[in-house]
Amino acid sequence: MLTDKEIAEIEEHIKHYPRKQAAVIEALKVVQAHRGYVSDESVKDIADFLEMTPDEVDSVATFYNLIFRKPVGKHVILLCDSVSCWIMGYENVRDHLKKKLNIDLGQTTQDGEFTLLTIPCLGACDRAPAMMVDNDLHGNLTAEKIDEILEKYK
Ligand code: FES
Repeated sequence: MLTDKEIAEIEEHIKHYPRKQAAVIEALKVVQAHRGYVSDESVKDIADFLEMTPDEVDSVATFYNLIFRKPVGKHVILLCDSVSCWIMGYENVRDHLKKKLNIDLGQTTQDGEFTLLTIPCLGACDRAPAMMVDNDLHGNLTAEKIDEILEKYK
């Protein structure tokens, strides 16, 4: 069930659209902000609230890669795997992250601190290879720089 606070926040977004269904991405973001991810049950609750089908809401959630449909760690690392980052050393960065965190892509560390995901171009090609940790963009990544960055999130 959506909480009163979630409903109030979603309604605030709905005011900016001619139809409440247009606020579906905002509704997903609201739920994710409160719960960390959007469960199947939350998809259904959002669908009921916006008078949509769960499939319609799910297709938006799946398409929009910043909506997490499974539980994630306290911090989410989004590693760019598009062309500029590939050219500039994506594989080394990916392998270092996997080794350092002892997880594979798509997984969460045992302590629940970090989830490692890939994402298409972050729009920071001039600073490739790049990644986001939560809302922070980090570029020109090297193994040493990654170690320093991750320390800040512990
Ligand atoms: S290709 Fe990685 S930021 Fe654009």
